[in-house]
Amino acid sequence: MSWKEVDKGWGDQAKVWAAVMEPRWWPEFDAVLRATGVGEGSQYLDIACGSGLMLNMASRRGANVHGLDASERLLSLAKRRTPAADIRHGDMNNLPWEDGTFDIATSCRGIWGPNQDALNEAARVLKPGGLMGLSFFSAGREASQIGRAFHAIRRISEHEIEWSQQLGEIGLEGRAEEMCEAAGLIPGERQSLAFDLEGADLDHEVRAWMSAGPAWMAIQERGANEVENSLREELADLEEEGIGVRTQVLIEFVVAQKPS
Ligand SMILES: C[S@@+](CC[C@H](N)C(=O)[O-])C[C@H]1O[C@@H](n2cnc3c(N)ncnc32)[C@H](O)[C@@H]1O
Repeated sequence: MSWKEVDKGWGDQAKVWAAVMEPRWWPEFDAVLRATGVGEGSQYLDIACGSGLMLNMASRRGANVHGLDASERLLSLAKRRTPAADIRHGDMNNLPWEDGTFDIATSCRGIWGPNQDALNEAARVLKPGGLMGLSFFSAGREASQIGRAFHAIRRISEHEIEWSQQLGEIGLEGRAEEMCEAAGLIPGERQSLAFDLEGADLDHEVRAWMSAGPAWMAIQERGANEVENSLREELADLEEEGIGVRTQVLIEFVVAQKPS
């Protein structure tokens, strides 16, 4: 799929993604911002920034924030949240900034297994000595609770079976580090993070997942009712009386440095 078509899926439920799904990932955003040292005066770029919660968090830490995503409708929300930020519509494989612009770049589940070109671009726009924070699902996600949501979508979508496997390869042992090295970056030790995505109830949880790009693909193939029912069935037993639906996520990340 061309980057110009990304908005069809990721933008379709943009306001639901921004209000219901994206905020649940704040522990990942916080960990990557802290590990890369984003702070007062950092020239900072978030690649595949979506609706821009991470950009907003970086801006509250005093950084000069820049973001890029292929979905115009997600970016409208990012701009509304952080009006002073430099937020651009474009392709992560062809960043519209000059070589050596940023102290820090990040991408949270935005650069995946097949996206070496995007990581090369990230390395290009970093200053010498600059840091790249790259986070992704642990390869163990299939066995973790969040694997169930992906399974619910994949089991009814031909497209998602193959695509999701390719995307997920970045989580395999050593793979993200190899990608960083191929981009000319020196990766630090891989770090991991576990947290729960919180849903008030099953309806809330299903609504959150229906707003994600992979669900949109499945909806095109099988219709919204079928995707919704599949998610409902797969996630039902994660609901707890008085607690809601809590889904454990395993995230890993690498901080890699551009040689000085
Ligand atoms: C899993 S979401 C992550 C968004 C954000 N980093 C977050 O954590 O909420 C993947 C994002 O990648 C964006 N995307 C997909 N292909 C892209 C491309 N070629 N260039 C830029 N953004 C892209 C989508 O629009 C979507 O916002």
